[in-house]
Amino acid sequence: MSESSATFSSPPLQKKQTISCLSTTLLIIIAFPVALAAVLYRLELFETFHFPSGELPQRTATAPAVNPRMQVGSEVVAEGKVHGPEDLAYDKRRRLIYTGCEDGWIKRVTVNESVHDSVVENWVNTGGRPLGLALEKSGELIVADGDLGLLRVTQERKVEILAQEHDGLKFNLTDGVDVGEDGTIYFTDASYKYNLKDFYFDIMEGEPHGRFMSYNPATKKVTLLARNLYFANGVAVAPDQKFVVYCETVMSRCRKYYLQGPKKGRIGEFSPNLPGMPDNVHYVGQGKYYIGMATHVTPQCLRKIAAMVTKYYRRPNLEKNGGVLVVDLAGKLRDHYYDPQLSLISSGIKVDNYIYCGSLSYPFLLRLDVKQYPALPSS
Ligand SMILES: *[C@@H]1O[C@H](CO)[C@@H](O)[C@H](O)[C@H]1NC(C)=O
Repeated sequence: MSESSATFSSPPLQKKQTISCLSTTLLIIIAFPVALAAVLYRLELFETFHFPSGELPQRTATAPAVNPRMQVGSEVVAEGKVHGPEDLAYDKRRRLIYTGCEDGWIKRVTVNESVHDSVVENWVNTGGRPLGLALEKSGELIVADGDLGLLRVTQERKVEILAQEHDGLKFNLTDGVDVGEDGTIYFTDASYKYNLKDFYFDIMEGEPHGRFMSYNPATKKVTLLARNLYFANGVAVAPDQKFVVYCETVMSRCRKYYLQGPKKGRIGEFSPNLPGMPDNVHYVGQGKYYIGMATHVTPQCLRKIAAMVTKYYRRPNLEKNGGVLVVDLAGKLRDHYYDPQLSLISSGIKVDNYIYCGSLSYPFLLRLDVKQYPALPSS
């Protein structure tokens, strides 16, 4: 990301803020008059012909338990040593968190009782932009690299390219990945049309350029499982291996692809109408998935304006309420940890009593002791 690192300050007194489409639009237009002509000129380009607006959540689901101030009590880990740590993979045996940074480094962060004791190691630089991460049984790291495709990094730190295209159509934003019990790798290409530098346009354009695929390490073959996805993102294999969950960021939903049973090869609902835009998803044990939530849902009318302003001025900060959503095996919402001050949280994993969060823009990992700061019944 070309974005500069977001500053992280303790939460100031928040004015209750409602995003009214009209007032925000007016504000943007008044604040960026230069953009106005461009907005009018380019409006047509972003008319979203195929975008199934009807499928966008009209009413988003809310979790029965929330912690809406997750910054309170949360600690900063590896401060200044990990920039844009997008996804996290936990190596239980070594008590290490792998994370991929915007400078191409995959770093290893030790898990310690005190955040001050954690050590950060520059492990391997892919030369691209490591996003989704998953460990194979053998301990090798599988990487969805936004720039380079699907990679494997061996314990000897050798980077192997596994796949960069399917049926002649190159991946442009390899994004999420997970590995099944049998070794099959499931992964997404968020977009064949836009690369990472331009990911915001893909989201704004709202056309389905995403694919969900599998890679068989024995045959080295890529199989297309689903296409025409709206920014296909995080991937997580169910603990019973019956299906794989994948997130579609722009549609605020996660779906499942059946691997077994009478619905094998079909797609079903998993978690629709999410209260925000999902990024990575991880199965964290005890019947729970953690979904990294980049932001609350941006009203559709803002999408277009934002795209215009981004193109001709700079990217407006529309994201807020980033955090981690906890859903159960059936995709039902359980807990929601978020904060108005947090944006572009991309990943959440569970280590001991902590949620560890990755993000696209912060120069640290965030962790929260959920025993001490739990989500509480919302009413
Ligand atoms: C990848 O995305 C960039 C723009 O973000 C585009 O210029 C390029 O043509 C795309 N690559 C392919 C193979 O379509």
